[in-house]
Amino acid sequence: MCFRSSQIPGMLIAMFALLGSLSLFSSPMMAQDMAALLDEPGTVLITGSSRGIGFELSKQYAVRKWKVIATCRTPSESDALVRLSEKYPNVIVEEMDVTDIGEIEALAKKYADTAIDVLINNAGIFGAVKLQKLDELDYKTFVDVMAVNTFGPLKVSQAFANNIAASEEKKIITITSGLGSMTLTEEAMQGYYFYRASKAGVNIISRTLSADLRDEGILVGLFNPGIVDTGFGGTNYDGPKLSPEEAAAALIGFIETLSPETAATMINYDGVPMPW
Ligand SMILES: NC(=O)c1ccc[n+]([C@@H]2O[C@H](COP(=O)([O-])OP(=O)(O)OC[C@H]3O[C@@H](n4cnc5c(N)ncnc54)[C@H](OP(=O)(O)O)[C@@H]3O)[C@@H](O)[C@H]2O)c1
Repeated sequence: MCFRSSQIPGMLIAMFALLGSLSLFSSPMMAQDMAALLDEPGTVLITGSSRGIGFELSKQYAVRKWKVIATCRTPSESDALVRLSEKYPNVIVEEMDVTDIGEIEALAKKYADTAIDVLINNAGIFGAVKLQKLDELDYKTFVDVMAVNTFGPLKVSQAFANNIAASEEKKIITITSGLGSMTLTEEAMQGYYFYRASKAGVNIISRTLSADLRDEGILVGLFNPGIVDTGFGGTNYDGPKLSPEEAAAALIGFIETLSPETAATMINYDGVPMPW
């Protein structure tokens, strides 16, 4: 018998928490398998699934037996994703560049009759660090970063809003970044103009989407994965990082528990709300 995670009886959750605390789940995988058993499979659409966090999200939802519409720019070059879809028939690879309005609308048309429980706006680029320093400011890089990170999530959310509204879970999630926060220390605030602007931009877009889609019952979530070891951005940060597996697991946990209280707010990977 399957339950939606939101419907798991409280006693059952308490029991698993107790077993977990007694270390009876010998490995994280065992706990993950248990979560998969309790999770009634829905449908998730993920952007930027070819690698990094998006690939890992596709994998973890595939294991949970969700129908995964794993979108990427170039399926023919996304070997790992294609292999994943061969292993898990519940993974469908679709081509979608989030800056290509024609491709987005064509895919939305193809899936017009499909309810999509969760949309994850994951695709993102950092843009060359050097080209977004104050003494460089390359305009084309600015436009490219804004197109992928800011316009992309808005257009994809708009195109699939009816699919989300027709589903049971009704969730739109966008991956943001702490670099888009206005409240960092002055030292942490230097450089990365375009990337910061793109993530601050997608934050306000998500709040606006939340207001526009409230009457449809759609929850809009904003998640900061912290620093994840995907090679993203190519900055020389050598401090602690989450693995893509950990980041995806934290994001799935966030999605499962997303509520009107945690929607339209920037939530860190550890579950703590972040300042804008
Ligand atoms: N890693 C971090 O430390 C970190 C921290 C904070 C936030 N984030 C956010 O997390 C998200 C995922 O990052 P990641 O670390 O997994 O990065 P990644 O490993 O570089 O993966 C980025 C993904 O986005 C895809 N993508 C890029 N441009 C696209 C476009 N126009 N249309 C569709 N897909 C496109 C890439 O596809 P291709 O393979 O075709 O290039 C790739 O699949 C991003 O939104 C990023 O801003 C990451």
